[in-house]
Amino acid sequence: MSTPAFPELPTGFCFGAAIAAYQIEGAHDQDGRGPSIWDTFSHTPGRTLDGATGDTACDHYHRYREDVALLRGLGVDSYRFSIAWPRLLPRGTGPVNAKGLDFYDRLIDELLAAGVAPAATLYHWDLPQALEDRGGWRVRETAEAFAQYAALAAERYGDRVVRWITLNEPYCSAFAGYAEGRHAPGAEEGRGARAAAHHLLVAHGLAIRELRAAGAQEAGITLNLDRIHLASALPEDRAALRRAKVLHNEVWTEPLLAGRYPAHEAETWAGLADGPWRLPGDLELIGAPLDFLGVNFYRPVTFAAAPHGEADPEVRTAVDIGVTELDRYRARHTTMGWPVVPDALTELLRELHARYPRLPPVWITGNGSAEGDTVGPDGRVHDTERIDYLADHLAAVADAISAGVDVRGYYVWSLLDNFEWARGYGQRFGLVHVDYDALTRTPKDSYHWYRGLITAHRART
Ligand code: NOJ
Repeated sequence: MSTPAFPELPTGFCFGAAIAAYQIEGAHDQDGRGPSIWDTFSHTPGRTLDGATGDTACDHYHRYREDVALLRGLGVDSYRFSIAWPRLLPRGTGPVNAKGLDFYDRLIDELLAAGVAPAATLYHWDLPQALEDRGGWRVRETAEAFAQYAALAAERYGDRVVRWITLNEPYCSAFAGYAEGRHAPGAEEGRGARAAAHHLLVAHGLAIRELRAAGAQEAGITLNLDRIHLASALPEDRAALRRAKVLHNEVWTEPLLAGRYPAHEAETWAGLADGPWRLPGDLELIGAPLDFLGVNFYRPVTFAAAPHGEADPEVRTAVDIGVTELDRYRARHTTMGWPVVPDALTELLRELHARYPRLPPVWITGNGSAEGDTVGPDGRVHDTERIDYLADHLAAVADAISAGVDVRGYYVWSLLDNFEWARGYGQRFGLVHVDYDALTRTPKDSYHWYRGLITAHRART
């Protein structure tokens, strides 16, 4: 079967692979790690598919050397991992866990020895449970605790980490976690979610301050921004589009990139537009300059107007904005049920570039597809769909660059198959297949393809 041509990216473009702590590490109660909200949530019956938990996951905590060897074999420039807050500070604040600190020292040193630049995410959803017990992201104290944690991590690893991501996809932390209830902590509260969104932004701003004070190298944030298509030219659908853009994108991009709150928020949030969680000075804190913006992108969405209370399950939240999601894409869908529409990534990047004069360099910090991968009788995984997905999305990035968007690099989601949150272990995103019983790793055809792409890029540029 023929493989797609390698998309051509500019000289200096950086290739990477990404992952997150709770999704691969396991060792959930070892070496002093405290519980996080995802331990509590996944151990609550009915919360995750088949009761899946991250207790063992890929056992990366014990097998990280093998995983770094896979990265070395892949030839990536950089690896994006996340630091588990509850490993460093088991109760969120207070006593530091030396063994937790040591683990990331070992991982980072192993990466450097393999010639792979470490990129660290500080928060990929594993809030220490002790902080949730005191209000979680609903309260400002959690943002202050995050700043202390960021300072600790920057102090310890700042000499070696080249790229810091404060938060991964705060949309999911605030809205999937506190409004939709489909992620930890599983709350369904309008006010709680709106306060959480703001406190996450404050946490980001405080962490950027700490990173700068510690002399950290590049610092930014990762957002899951949606390319939202218009359902129809009807005025009500246009209004739905405006509201969906506030909820999914502008609540983050406006304060971060333009120093203002979204223009259409009163129309979007009804009684939740503003709240006591907003303090004077917050916009300045949140809008401090970034070295880069991380963008995670998987699929586009189309929202249409819906009577309040009748939205689709995906968007029916405690924050009901009266939109319903339509799937009119005549594209292939991945096993997540997501349509594959690479052009939407180019459109999204061009939109960002056009809207924000202060847009910093962009990194694609997560992009990939879940497929029904199995190891065949020949011992290989022939994931041609994933190769096509990656080739087409990298070509979409190249198109955005040609259109003037400054995109510096791309991290495939993900290095390994892993714990896909509430969807458990059935969704396989890895370049490397993981057998969850034997914990063996098998590089898929896409791993070999990506390695070929990186080699060809280096030879060409
Ligand atoms: C992006 C999230 O950051 C990651 O944790 C998740 O596994 C992927 N999307 C796939 O859904």
